[in-house]
Amino acid sequence: MRSERTALSWLDDRERERREAGLRREVRLRTPGSALIDLASNDYLGLVRHPEVIDGAVAALRRWGAGSTGSRLVTGSTTEHALLERELAEFVGTRAGLVFATGYAANLGAVTALAGAGTLVVSDAGSHASLVDACRLSRARVVVTPHCDVEAVAHALQTRTEERALVLTDSVFSADGDLAPLPELHRICRESGAVLLVDEAHGLGVRGAGGRGLVAEVGLAGEYDVVVTATLSKSLAAQGGVVLASDKVCAHLIDSARTFIFDTGLAPAAVGAARAALAVLRREPQRAQAVLDRAADIARIAGVAAPVSAVVSVILGDPQRAFEAATMCRDAGVSVGCFRPPSVPVGTSRLRLTARATLTQDELARVEAVLADVLAIAP
Ligand SMILES: Cc1ncc(COP(=O)(O)O)c(C=O)c1O
Repeated sequence: MRSERTALSWLDDRERERREAGLRREVRLRTPGSALIDLASNDYLGLVRHPEVIDGAVAALRRWGAGSTGSRLVTGSTTEHALLERELAEFVGTRAGLVFATGYAANLGAVTALAGAGTLVVSDAGSHASLVDACRLSRARVVVTPHCDVEAVAHALQTRTEERALVLTDSVFSADGDLAPLPELHRICRESGAVLLVDEAHGLGVRGAGGRGLVAEVGLAGEYDVVVTATLSKSLAAQGGVVLASDKVCAHLIDSARTFIFDTGLAPAAVGAARAALAVLRREPQRAQAVLDRAADIARIAGVAAPVSAVVSVILGDPQRAFEAATMCRDAGVSVGCFRPPSVPVGTSRLRLTARATLTQDELARVEAVLADVLAIAP
């Protein structure tokens, strides 16, 4: 007799295991105009509801329609996409840019097109999940090096048998908010003929002069062997991704990045919003420093070390404890991120608080009161 269990009964077992480990996740609906103080989103520059950004989206939507209608190589590319690429490349300091449907797709496309069988890919242990997945898809030999361990990267590059090599890192790591040692990484890449790919998802709009990113800040923008990827969904308040690099690299991606070729182009409204957000940032470069200043305020309130990015982590260890503390914050009017495994290593579950340039002193005072209560009684 066949067992009562069905082909998907194992999902019940997994669900129970995750629940018992405090690792169930839920999709919560937002309320428009919610009074919650937002320390959870990646809207670092506070532009997501900026009138010029909304107008930019609406104008592109009216001109080009709701969707981009196809792959960029078939029907999905507009003058708006081309202008955004040019403006982003100019802002960060590269020769060219190529916009993708998401930052995730930009990373998958760039890594798989620049690596492959016969390439060594070296990736930091803290690299974002999209870079991890890009490694898996690349068919290259992959070495994951301990977090920010330049010696380990050098060793992997120097002992390789492959001719080509690609080193991957976030500029600002998304969970801890710390910075990659970019000058050192670039030096060893240059010495051993490797390419350095830097994901600026959390660096753009926050680090560097006027928010040009950490690659620009350390003087590496425009180097022939540096490739920058970024999302348009954080500081630029929209959606989408971009690769910023030389003309030669971008031309190669157009011909061979599968997430460019086989994915529908980014929706015009997102392109229009990102362009408008970039224009606001150019006009108001002080927003970038304001994010760092507000992050310093949050860190002081939370009693943790001064941050070097918008991300402030308060490590609580146990996932259930982090979840309950995040729930208490929300119930008290402050929305915070709750990062648990697999987003962070086991034993480092945390509240992840993100700064926004437009946080007010009143909001910070409220955050201070709520965090004092929650951290004092968090189970
Ligand atoms: C470091 C990093 N890279 C890439 C991504 C993916 O970007 P997107 O959300 O645009 O797909 C994210 C998060 O969203 C990120 O934090």
